[in-house]
Amino acid sequence: MSMTLNEIERALRALRLSGIRATLETRVLQAQASGEPFLDTFSLILQDELDRRRSRLMERRYQLSGLDERATLTDFDWRFNPKLPRQACFELHTLKFLAAGENALIIGKPGTGKSRVAKAIAYHATLQGHEVRVLEADSVFAQYALSEAADQQRQLRSWVEADLVILDDLFLARRISEAASEVLQTLVHQRYKARRSLVVTSNRVVQDWGKYLGDNTMATTILDRLMHRSHLLEFEGRSYRMKEAASKFGTQEPPR
Ligand SMILES: Nc1ncnc2c1ncn2[C@@H]1O[C@H](COP(=O)(O)OP(=O)(O)O)[C@@H](O)[C@H]1O
Ligand SMILES: [Mg+2]
Repeated sequence: MSMTLNEIERALRALRLSGIRATLETRVLQAQASGEPFLDTFSLILQDELDRRRSRLMERRYQLSGLDERATLTDFDWRFNPKLPRQACFELHTLKFLAAGENALIIGKPGTGKSRVAKAIAYHATLQGHEVRVLEADSVFAQYALSEAADQQRQLRSWVEADLVILDDLFLARRISEAASEVLQTLVHQRYKARRSLVVTSNRVVQDWGKYLGDNTMATTILDRLMHRSHLLEFEGRSYRMKEAASKFGTQEPPR
């Protein structure tokens, strides 16, 4: 005996086939209207379920990534700072570096778009099916230091296992705490061993990083692993934040 539409809905719910449940009524109407072969209708219905699952998975990956926006390079103004390494940015955006397990260091003046470019790469990676973690270096390390040991382990594991980690604004506060440099060391070391990519953005020139890390031998190991198999992108130019502030208050931009 065939089921009523209500019973079918209940069965779909029990089977967690929400994609089919969402479109079933339409597909029934469509099949009646067109009199199409059963397999045609069935494949449409299956596709509805696949589509729903895919978009749910993408949404989940985005939520887990820690991204605060769906950043893209679409309306990035490359003319604003013509000295930016545009080709290298697009090269990273292809995610070939990720497949090769390479790192990228995006270094330069504040407001020149370092975080924006790093986040656009991160968002693109989530769309391509990668697990990504975007970490605001200072706040994440501070939170980590305050967490319970079990939480620390769990966090560190998720940072080590992600396909791509963005460490945003490293050394914003120059010196980092002893605890922070220890997590940094573990993170860099473990990801290096597993050949997993790390993208670091920083306003501080690489030459000074050793100073901010304190302990000399630790600094050397961290830096060695970060620099090996690494792309260095230097962002020189004016702050886009200043431009935005200037246009908001109707003032002149500072001269170049
Ligand atoms: N060339 C650009 N075109 C468009 N927006 C930009 C550009 N450079 C920076 N921005 C925007 O300016 C703000 C500051 O950029 P951000 O990436 O945070 O700078 P940084 O990380 O280098 O300090 C962001 O809102 C960013 O989207
Ligand atoms: Mg930034």
